[in-house]
Amino acid sequence: MKRIAVIPGDGIGEEVIDGALEVLNAFSFPFKYEWGEAGDAVKERKGVALPEETLELCKESDAVLFGAVGETAADVIIKLRMELQTFANIRPAKSFKGVKSLYDDVDIVIVRENTECLYKGLEFEVADGITEGIRIITRNASEKIAHYAFELAKKERRKKVTALHKANVMRKTCALFRDVCRTVAKEYPEIEFNDYYIDAACMYLVMDPWRFDVIVTTNMFGDIVSDLAAGLVGGLGLAPSGNIGEKSAIFEPVHGSAPDIAGKGIANPSAAILSATMMLKHFGFIDEANKIEKTLEKVILEGKTTPDLGGKLKTDEMVREITKNLELS
Ligand code: NAI
Ligand code: MG
Repeated sequence: MKRIAVIPGDGIGEEVIDGALEVLNAFSFPFKYEWGEAGDAVKERKGVALPEETLELCKESDAVLFGAVGETAADVIIKLRMELQTFANIRPAKSFKGVKSLYDDVDIVIVRENTECLYKGLEFEVADGITEGIRIITRNASEKIAHYAFELAKKERRKKVTALHKANVMRKTCALFRDVCRTVAKEYPEIEFNDYYIDAACMYLVMDPWRFDVIVTTNMFGDIVSDLAAGLVGGLGLAPSGNIGEKSAIFEPVHGSAPDIAGKGIANPSAAILSATMMLKHFGFIDEANKIEKTLEKVILEGKTTPDLGGKLKTDEMVREITKNLELS
């Protein structure tokens, strides 16, 4: 039995996690779900966004299924990733047939370093009107994430790894990251390697995404380019992620609590469902994960989607389409 901590969070986090669980419940996986609370609403009530008991629950679990939180994201999800030492944040961006987007054949995986960089939260107000933030980049974490990216490329039979950095300006931190990636690349002669400056890479991503296969980058750049990549394939409603550590793993949609649509029942559940299938694959339930993904592809192709993808369905109606098709197949 695997222990899964379920943290729905705020806003659409709750709505999409309900949907993901409904899809998982179409099977009988050996999972024990245990609910934990975190986010803006808990902070209002208890004065703390990530209660100690939630953190403990996540540490004891085999995986965390996370929705999204709001303004407390730094205190909740960023902290969870660091506390659970989920050093690799895997964010695939793959085109879906039937989804209106710039291109119809994008297939990129972003491997984002998840434990350091500017997101360490080392920010200070040094004087009135003067603030500073400290960026931590270590050889150890850079080596770990670079190896992870190449191993992922090998496992998924991908051909190329591209490191993104800004070593011309950040001459210590980014240069260390770039140099480590270049060194690790030599251990994998069968996989092509190159590196780009992050700004140029953003243009290439929009104009020529086929240059990319696996991207490896530092924490903040990874955050930004993963939303960009999500935009290439139909938006945040379709972008899942897995945060992988040696002991723990957190699976969550890339999106946030989306206050602009929260409570309307129209959030796209796909990103959460695809995060759940990443969790299934993590535990070795490959056939079931593939079955869910194929079914989701079919439902999207038939236009039975939420409004962000051009459809007319509510979140629960789209989920029902998926569970209905799962029963039929
Ligand atoms: P967001 O990801 O919540 O929303 C960005 C845009 O994408 C919005 O227009 C939203 O309606 C749309 N969108 C996102 N998910 C969608 C879905 N499943 N279906 C349909 N449309 C979807 O990012 P935003 O607006 O920058 O932040 C909102 C709040 O979320 C903030 O308080 C932020 O701190 C928090 N946040 C939390 C994250 C987390 O918990 N992991 C990640 C990103 C933001
Ligand atoms: Mg983000």
